[in-house]
Amino acid sequence: MRPMMPDFDRAVSLLRAGELVAFPTETVYGLGADAANPEAVAKIFAAKGRPADHPLIVHLAGHDAVEHWAEQVPDVAWELMETFWPGPLTLILKKQPWVPLTVTGGQNTVGLRVPGHPVALELLRRFAASGGHGGIAAPSANRFGRISPTTAAHVQEELGDQVPLILDGGACAVGIESTIVDCSRGEPVVLRPGHIAPQHLQAVLGRCPEIESANGAPRVSGSLAAHYAPQTPMRLVAGERLLDFLNAQRHKGDRCGVIGHSQPPQAGMPHLWRMLPADATGYAHELYAALREMDHAGVSLIAVEALPNDPAWAAVSDRLRRAVAGSGQA
Ligand code: TXA
Ligand code: MG
Repeated sequence: MRPMMPDFDRAVSLLRAGELVAFPTETVYGLGADAANPEAVAKIFAAKGRPADHPLIVHLAGHDAVEHWAEQVPDVAWELMETFWPGPLTLILKKQPWVPLTVTGGQNTVGLRVPGHPVALELLRRFAASGGHGGIAAPSANRFGRISPTTAAHVQEELGDQVPLILDGGACAVGIESTIVDCSRGEPVVLRPGHIAPQHLQAVLGRCPEIESANGAPRVSGSLAAHYAPQTPMRLVAGERLLDFLNAQRHKGDRCGVIGHSQPPQAGMPHLWRMLPADATGYAHELYAALREMDHAGVSLIAVEALPNDPAWAAVSDRLRRAVAGSGQA
């Protein structure tokens, strides 16, 4: 059966009227509002329960809109856009003076991204064609601190009644949030790792960009130590210790959810196993759905097999660390 055509006309009318619309991107679902309308943007913060100093990404239909939102765009930023847009890369640039501070969390920079999802792009094109400024501000469509949604059903579960329209574009291909590169202060710096890894950026930049260690500064909300988190407590367990750990839990009478990638499920154990792909891209694609599934399964603990210590796994490792730090807070 063909999926229903998303109701773009209704989405554009709602956005123009200052209402929220959730929409799919290739990374995660976004909770969108007209980025030029501070009252509309305020509704995003209210729906998510997100602190007002956490800046939002403005989504655009194409490069040609960039200078409407940003000024003093360095050459290197244009090169990154040429190479990776539409795609899972957000660039931090100096904002144009008119861009509302509600969007930028009070900062003089703005995060811009052209997403690589046909539904998102069609929505952005139609929204831009309808007049106004054409930018859609959108954080991930989850309650603050929780797991980002990668299907329309997840958005419904997270925000339900608070969003008048959720456009369904199927499961997100990438599954974790975009790579964020700050181009607003000289040499580009990675603020949030993602599917586009430092070695991909190196091909354009000519050298490997620095990665700013995230320490909870609110500039990047995804950089808070506790984020992307399930309500069930989570533990990372080294692959070689996993079976002992699970046996001990069994003896305590605890039923765990287990997210593995190399250790196959053990017969006779009461635990709920979910095997994810053993490659970082496949793993990222399924991770958030797996965490959500475990959260619903009524297990007392989620044991996650620790990931390989390899640059290819850096972005998923980052999300897992934060999920562990934020887990268990019902
Ligand atoms: O993949 C994504 O980026 C998804 C989809 C919907 O595009 N969006 C997303 O938004 O992850 P959110 O709000 O959950 O995370 C956006 C991140 C935040 O950590 C925010 O602090 C950072 O981008 N950010 C936005 N503008 C910024 C700025 N001017 N300076 C520094 N960080 C900024
Ligand atoms: Mg988020």
